[in-house]
Amino acid sequence: MFDAPNNITSRLSPIRIGSVTLDMPVILAPMAGVTDAPFRQLVQKFGAGLVMSEMIASHAMIRENRKTLQRTRQANESGITAVQLAGTEPEVMAEAARLNVDRGAPIIDINFGCPMKKIVNNFAGSALMRDEKLAASILKAVVNAVKVPVTLKMRLGWDRENMNAPRLAKIAEDCGIKMVTIHGRTRCQFYKGQADWSLIRLIKNAVKIPVIANGDIRDNSDATLALAASGADGVMIGRGTYGRPWFLRQVMDYLRTGIAAPSPSLAEQRAIVADHLDAMLSYYGTYTGLRIARKHIGWYSKGLPKAAEFRAAVNTCDDAEKVRGMIDEFFEQIIQQAIKCHPRESGDPAASDSERMSLCQDSYGPQTRAAGFPPSRE
Ligand SMILES: Cc1cc2nc3c(=O)[nH]c(=O)nc-3n(C[C@H](O)[C@H](O)[C@H](O)COP(=O)(O)O)c2cc1C
Repeated sequence: MFDAPNNITSRLSPIRIGSVTLDMPVILAPMAGVTDAPFRQLVQKFGAGLVMSEMIASHAMIRENRKTLQRTRQANESGITAVQLAGTEPEVMAEAARLNVDRGAPIIDINFGCPMKKIVNNFAGSALMRDEKLAASILKAVVNAVKVPVTLKMRLGWDRENMNAPRLAKIAEDCGIKMVTIHGRTRCQFYKGQADWSLIRLIKNAVKIPVIANGDIRDNSDATLALAASGADGVMIGRGTYGRPWFLRQVMDYLRTGIAAPSPSLAEQRAIVADHLDAMLSYYGTYTGLRIARKHIGWYSKGLPKAAEFRAAVNTCDDAEKVRGMIDEFFEQIIQQAIKCHPRESGDPAASDSERMSLCQDSYGPQTRAAGFPPSRE
């Protein structure tokens, strides 16, 4: 049951983002190179309040660059997919927003959080937190350009001395922004240290629009603690979904019921990885699809026995059929090992592969346990 001080379930109510209602505000973070259409679809299949596209460069969008169009919301996506825009010129961002809405985006999100030098040096991403006037012009231009709700994602501020997120959130609300997500770090922290969920409360206190807490939510109790510390209306999760597209569903279930749902069995995970690979191959074609699949396959296998050998083999193979075979074989040997350790007995009919796998982790040595995989029931 909950370790958190309050009963979070009763506080995590549906939120309204303008005309869009999120029944369960547990959101997939935008991640360049990760939250592409195949991954978003997979996360949506398990369940998510909202998913976000990778950040789209507004300039490239209005040039209708092929790669950029591939990153936007796709016509066949189910569920609610927000498209995130990065840029620095109000009119260009407004035009990029219009184009995405024409392509079916139900929500536009604006990126004031990206810390990368190549973005910041162009005065985009978190650099915009240092120029509140330009920030306000961008927000107004985009809000006025489209009929769908516009949201904003940012950090606490540029650095510890300049944590202006509460003021900027208020400016954003006054410009017509309908939800703000805060990554609980400053730009100068990049991804170092810990996200500070309690500082997000300052933003929550500054505005009436929904505030979403983001940063370092890796298990159910992180989600409850982030909500309790920040007072936020929902959570956004990024890296916690690596190799676990089902994680948002688990968090939603936990926040609803207080009971931790098990991860899919190893046999189910094998099917999930194979389906994800197929989706990437058909979306990108074999050459690019295989290369993009490598990092996901690496994440799926993390902490499992013989994962390093498996990854080395997958990362050097250019034959999709062979990679499918490797995935099958890799999971099969673990499933067989788990069965050997804990055969399914009549007294233990419900034990899943994952549970049996975790019961016999000792036979796989410290690597498996150190990686904390498979996630055990909490
Ligand atoms: C690989 C990667 C790519 C990211 N790309 C974006 C992006 O395109 N837009 C954005 O607003 N944030 C981006 N982020 C930041 C995440 O959305 C999120 O704020 C951050 O990772 C903290 O959340 P987490 O600890 O749950 O991952 C990215 C993060 C990572 C790790």
